[in-house]
Amino acid sequence: MRILYSLLLIPWVLPAQTPTPAKTTDKLWGGRFAEGPSQVFEQFSGSLHFDRKLIEADVVGTQAYARALARVKILTTAEAERISTALGQVLDASRRPGFYDKATDEDIHSLVIRELKERAGPLADKIHTGRSRNEQISLDVRWWLRGEIDLTRRLAIDLMSALLTQAAAYPEAVVPGFTHTRRAQPVLWGHYLHAYFEMFARDLDRLEEVRRRVNLMPMGSGALAGSSFDYDRAAMARELGFDGLTRNSMDVSADRDFVIDTLHADALLMQHLSRLAEDWILYSSDEFGWLELSDKVTSGSSLMPQKKNPDSLELIRGKYGRVFGAYTAVMSLMKGLPLTYNRDMQEDKEPLFDALAATQGSLAMAKNVVDTAKLRPAVALRAVEESWSIATDLAEELARRGTPFHQAHQLVGRLVLTSIQAGKKPAAWTGADLQAFDPAFQPDMVKFMNPFEGLKTRNVLGGTAPERVIEALAAAQSRLAAYRLKL
Ligand code: ARG
Repeated sequence: MRILYSLLLIPWVLPAQTPTPAKTTDKLWGGRFAEGPSQVFEQFSGSLHFDRKLIEADVVGTQAYARALARVKILTTAEAERISTALGQVLDASRRPGFYDKATDEDIHSLVIRELKERAGPLADKIHTGRSRNEQISLDVRWWLRGEIDLTRRLAIDLMSALLTQAAAYPEAVVPGFTHTRRAQPVLWGHYLHAYFEMFARDLDRLEEVRRRVNLMPMGSGALAGSSFDYDRAAMARELGFDGLTRNSMDVSADRDFVIDTLHADALLMQHLSRLAEDWILYSSDEFGWLELSDKVTSGSSLMPQKKNPDSLELIRGKYGRVFGAYTAVMSLMKGLPLTYNRDMQEDKEPLFDALAATQGSLAMAKNVVDTAKLRPAVALRAVEESWSIATDLAEELARRGTPFHQAHQLVGRLVLTSIQAGKKPAAWTGADLQAFDPAFQPDMVKFMNPFEGLKTRNVLGGTAPERVIEALAAAQSRLAAYRLKL
């Protein structure tokens, strides 16, 4: 038995070694692996080509983590200092061209630690004590994202300010308001622009609210069960500018709500932008003709010499698809994922990055379009007058003077039909004509053939009466100042 046993231990009995495996010790997780990953897997799973965007967050977060580890005596204060200095050098180096050229690291976290080791030596081996990339990625994205949300807010505010400037440039301009893409009722140009201001104001509110949920500090969650090193999470949150702490470690490892929240807010914002774009594409077409887009934001045709195309607005309209696509991508990605972390979740980043860039680019583009667009008030007014869009004003005036509304509606409908058949525009009617048409009309009611008379009657809060619009635009201006102060 003993002989047999010792025979087993003779090296020549052991199976021959496979060819030297790829090094696994350069991974953050190499120890348990006899073999390194295949090239196909490395390429398929690596995220460095996109998560490098998070390097500043990763460095700043790791510096704060070093200080946290010093508080629980894993590092001395001096060691934490050295690590922090070396990390600062990593960040500086990352800003120089070519930094990533030869990097083969799996992700941004691995890269930062490798670069740290190159500068701080074996001391760097302590930095990942009690830390998981699952919480680290949450920290990095949250830290980075709040800055991007703020940038988006700033760009939205700039666009809203441009809308108010556009309104102020044509305080008396009347344009047709549409339903079913048919001229419906006259409105002030400023009233129309203020409608978009309100949409973007809601977008701003949403972004502020989302930011509150994004800006929570997740470190301390460990891989999923919470850290066994009771470092001061609150101090770390304060150092990193977070408003509060996450409350459950499993939730942190499993959660991407904050990404989806942001994408939802951006998608809705982009939807508003796409509608503005569509309106202005129409209004600036030859068929409408009452808005002129600047040469600066339009382009020509390589074949048709006369063309001036609204490409800037078309691209904004098109980019909505990307942003909404990103939203649905991450919504689908997270559906049914078992708690807690799953590598699927790495797929949230590219859509997020892409959507933010598209949203920010579209906001800046839209501001540029609004800044440079010129209204042709006379053409817009003609569009109002030709379309009998004052008909409602007339019917409501009849109702005010005692005709039941349904009868007034019928009567004005007949007036419009007769006029259209006779090719007679509103301005061609006299008071006497009107009364001759039907005694329910009093001669002075002819003033409603002028769209400004009807506008004045829409004097409710939120209506298009000139004094209401002046009020609303002034209030919008001060709300804008308040939004700016919150940044
Ligand atoms: N790259 C990962 C992500 O974006 C974070 C790292 C966690 N990786 C892991 N294998 N646990 O979600």
